[in-house]
Parts: sequence; C-alpha cells; structure tokens
Amino acid sequence: MLIPLDNNILQEIAQTYGTPVYVYHAEKIADQFKKLTTAFTGVNARFFYACKALTNISILKYIRSLGCNIDCSSINEVHIALKAGFAPANILYTSNGIAFEEIQTAVELGVNINIDSLSNLEKFGKTYGHLYPVGIRLLPNIMAGGNLKISTGHENSKFGIPVYQLNQILALVERYKLRIVGLHIHTGSEIKDVEVFIKVADIFFELAPHFPELEFLDMGGGFKVPYKENEQGTDIYLLAQEVSAVLNKFDATYGKKFQVWFEPGKFLVSEAGSFITQVNVLKTNTNLNFAGINSGFNHLIRPMFYDSYHRITNISNTEAPTKEYAVVGNICETDTFAWNRPLNEVREGDLLVFHNAGAYGFEMGSNYNSRFLPAQVLHKNGQAHLIRKRDELADLWRNQIELD
Ligand code: LLP
Repeated sequence: MLIPLDNNILQEIAQTYGTPVYVYHAEKIADQFKKLTTAFTGVNARFFYACKALTNISILKYIRSLGCNIDCSSINEVHIALKAGFAPANILYTSNGIAFEEIQTAVELGVNINIDSLSNLEKFGKTYGHLYPVGIRLLPNIMAGGNLKISTGHENSKFGIPVYQLNQILALVERYKLRIVGLHIHTGSEIKDVEVFIKVADIFFELAPHFPELEFLDMGGGFKVPYKENEQGTDIYLLAQEVSAVLNKFDATYGKKFQVWFEPGKFLVSEAGSFITQVNVLKTNTNLNFAGINSGFNHLIRPMFYDSYHRITNISNTEAPTKEYAVVGNICETDTFAWNRPLNEVREGDLLVFHNAGAYGFEMGSNYNSRFLPAQVLHKNGQAHLIRKRDELADLWRNQIELD
C-alpha cells in the first residue's frame, strides 16, 4: 500500500529548498502506472505518457524506467523525450496546427506520428507516399471533458480532421498511397464517463474497413482524476473491460487484432504532485479574509484558467479550528486560487499546500511579473532530490539583448 508524502516530509522539503516548490512523489506515479497496466492485463494496449503535463527530464526518465511510452505535443517535447532516453519507436508525436517542417523532423527522428489536418496529410503524402507509416487524428463531434476549455472533440473544436471529411481523407490516401496505420481521437480532459471512450471506439469500428493497413486505435488521454474530496475518477477497470470487449468485436468482425493506444497525462502525474507555498500576508475586508501567498497564476494557473478546484491544506497549523479564506496570489492581477475555502486558521508564514498539482502546474507556469519559476523536487525511495533549481535573476534576462 502506498504511503502518501506526509506533512512532515513536505515541511522538511520546504525548509530545505524554500517555497514555492513543487514536490512529486515518484512511487505515486509508479502506482498509477501499475493501476493502468493491471487493469489492462490481457488487453492489447500501449500507454504513452502525455508529457505536456510535466516534462521535467528526471520525471521522464523515471516514467521511462517504469516501462511507459511517451506522447509529445511538440517537436521540442520529442527532443526532450529522446534526451530522457526513450527509443523513437516508443515516442508518439501528436501535435496540432504545426508547420510541416516539424513533421519532417519527426520523420527524420523516426517517431510515431499522428497528423491532424488535411493540408499536412497532403504534404505528408507528397513527401513520403507509402514510405512512412502514419496515424490520422480525427475530430469526432463528441462533447466530453470537464469544461469547454478542455474539451477537444466537439463540433467547433480546432483539433483533428472532422470525421465527415472522410472522403477527402480517403482521396489523399488513394492519391499518395498513404500508409495509414493508426486512427486517433482525443476528446478532452477529465472524462469520467467510460462511454465516451466506447463512442470513440464505435467511430473507429465504422472507419476501420477504409484503412486496410490499420494497426492501432489511439483513444488519447483524458482520464479523470479526483480533485475534490469524495470525487470519483475514471473507472479504469470498467474502461479496460469495455475496451477489451470492443477489441474482441473488431477481431470477430474484421478478423484482425488491433492494438489500442492511450495517452494519459494527468492520470499518471497529477495526484503525485503537491505545490507548497507560504503565506506572505493576511488581510481582511468587510466580506473576506485574504490569505496572500508567495505564488500566483504564474505558478498554478488552473484555478484561474479553467475554474479548477485544487484541495488546499494548511500544513503548519493542522489542529487549529477552520475559518474561511480567499486564497490569493501576489501577481498584479486577480489571481484567486479559492474564494471561500475553509482552512485551519492561517497565520503569516504558514505553509499552504495545493494537492493534485502534478499535472499542468509547473508546466503552465511563466515568469509573469518577473517572478521566478518555482523549484521542483522529486521524492523517491524515501529521499528528496532537487530536479529543477528555482530561477534566479540571471534567468529573467537570459535571452534578452540589451540595446544602448
Ligand atoms: N493526448 C492529447 C492529444 C492531448 O491533447 C492531451 C491533453 C492528452 C493526451 C492528455 O490529457 P490528460 O490525460 O492529461 O487529461 N491543461 C489542461 C488540460 C488540457 C490538456 C491538453 N491536452 C488542464 O490543466 O486540465
């Protein structure tokens, strides 16, 4: 049974490395990967970690050591994945809206590729014809995911080639003898409803006969993790069961065994991450008690960008009675993490921890207001390791060119 990082450990890390600091629990990542592979035992499935969630090289090396593959959303992520030691065959490149040159580089690097526009598919056909296997990212017209900002499969989404443009896809396949080995659909993030994945599988089922060289069916990522107390995540076991049944149906109908691919980001790293901040100032006005912390949307933008909920705990005063606080940042913007959040009484200097912050936390950070990006620490085998130094002043003007 996995023992979570307790408050003492988090406090020690804050003391050693300062705050704000992201802390990742290696064994929790391993535990999540194990859950996936256990649930999908006997199913012909491959998992590619969607590294846009967290790209620190030490995390990537750790994830590779677990036997997981990697999904990249930019050519730079592909370079980082290679640097972390992933073999090209275990790297998937699923991007959107990119220049064809990036795809050419991906071909040179020998990684798996999904293409998300007719225009790039045509360029791909003209350049490589049947030579290089490729997958197609489709837009299914399925509304799914936590909210519109993280939903990618609906009618007005920019992602993928709309399924109704099948004839145009097929014309390109025919003209350039494209070797289509995969179909890809990612409908969004925080998808609790397993049926969404099955709807995707149904679309694949309809399309499969059009692509005789098809080998894999890529259902993307988007498994929900529980952010709130008492919330449920995606039932991975149910998903595995249903996907297995679908694959059997493919086999029975088409006499062919397809492999199913997934690209989980959050599922692998979100719950493993804690973000430790410190309270700079307390303030009250007529309606609110503000707890002003030494961070802001420059370090964790999810609450402001998606209205996301992150559990927050005061690890410095755990026995005190609770009061409601507006937890706010120190950026010159309204960077409110939570409006009326019950917390054990907060004092200036207390440490507030944001939970479930491993995915899209540090990664969506910035240097806005010329603030430093936080340090990152990986806690592994009972030991804390610094895996990224906090920025320093020189980082802020590193690429700037000073004119007289
Ligand atoms: N595959 C593709 C093609 C994707 O676009 C994404 C996420 C994933 C996989 C991984 O999804 P996950 O398993 O992490 O939900 N930044 C947002 C979510 C948007 C992610 C964009 N794409 C957040 O903080 O919730």
